[in-house]
Amino acid sequence: MKGIILAGGNGTRLYPMTLATNKQLLHIYDKPMIYYPLSTLMLAGIQDILIISSQDAQPNFEKLLGDGNDLGINISYRQQERPNGIAEAFIIGEEFIGNSPCALILGDNVFHGQGLGKLLSKCAELESGAKIFATWVSDPERYGVVDLDIDGNIKGLIEKPKVAPSNWAIAGLYFFDHNVSSIAKSILPSARGELEILDVIKSYLAGDTLEIQKLGRGYAWLDTGTPESLLEAATFVHTLQQRQGLGICCPEEIALSKGFISLKKFKILAERYSSSDYGKLLNKTIQETST
Ligand code: TTP
Repeated sequence: MKGIILAGGNGTRLYPMTLATNKQLLHIYDKPMIYYPLSTLMLAGIQDILIISSQDAQPNFEKLLGDGNDLGINISYRQQERPNGIAEAFIIGEEFIGNSPCALILGDNVFHGQGLGKLLSKCAELESGAKIFATWVSDPERYGVVDLDIDGNIKGLIEKPKVAPSNWAIAGLYFFDHNVSSIAKSILPSARGELEILDVIKSYLAGDTLEIQKLGRGYAWLDTGTPESLLEAATFVHTLQQRQGLGICCPEEIALSKGFISLKKFKILAERYSSSDYGKLLNKTIQETST
């Protein structure tokens, strides 16, 4: 399973914060936003990762994450000229995807919850068809929404419905088989001029190969596209980290727990940040690992 982080976009809802920098380089409390989707893919066990961003932003992502060697993963980079839609990721990433199944996560989506690693690792075993995640939200009108029948089967998918058929919103994490690039190439831009991820998902639904994974109460799904939601996400991370003293979405820690890097290498990485709270958090992990 390969993984793509889509980290382009204009971030207009965060202007002027995103005038001079990419949204995914802003921080959520103590770490850059991109650490969160990166951690989610790594939790799924994915080690081959493509980051798609804009021409301006790419050098900064490279400066931050390099080729992924520090984390025991491979990171490559491609550019999206302008935000032509989420589904364009599979066209830009066609060569990268090749004949592998591929996960896609939006660069501004945060996932957290007990047992998420296990659940995602299972999803990463997908070889054919597609899997999407639905989370219960109070304001489904803002999202793509799943219409479910009484048995929980998907009847339809509706983008930002005026009257939502359910409160199950489609989260920004998707698993697809290797056909996804050719499907993305076959769809047409929507009325808003974007290649819609929902149209790709609908194609799997039509072929009866779409599965839905509900993320219930025990999971948090946060998107960080507005100042309000960015602050909420930062507060969420701050509160949990302070209370538990455990990191949320620290890629170094996940790399260690997944066996992508050795403890020796982890200690070197933690030492690099020893003067920051983030480094101190990583050092706590070492204490925990050795007790
Ligand atoms: P959006 O929130 O739809 O767009 P945005 O991030 O540019 O923000 P705004 O609406 O404030 O202008 O995008 C969701 C995520 O997907 C975000 O991480 C950016 C990414 N994205 C791309 O990288 N390319 C695209 O073509 C689209 C539509 C989104």
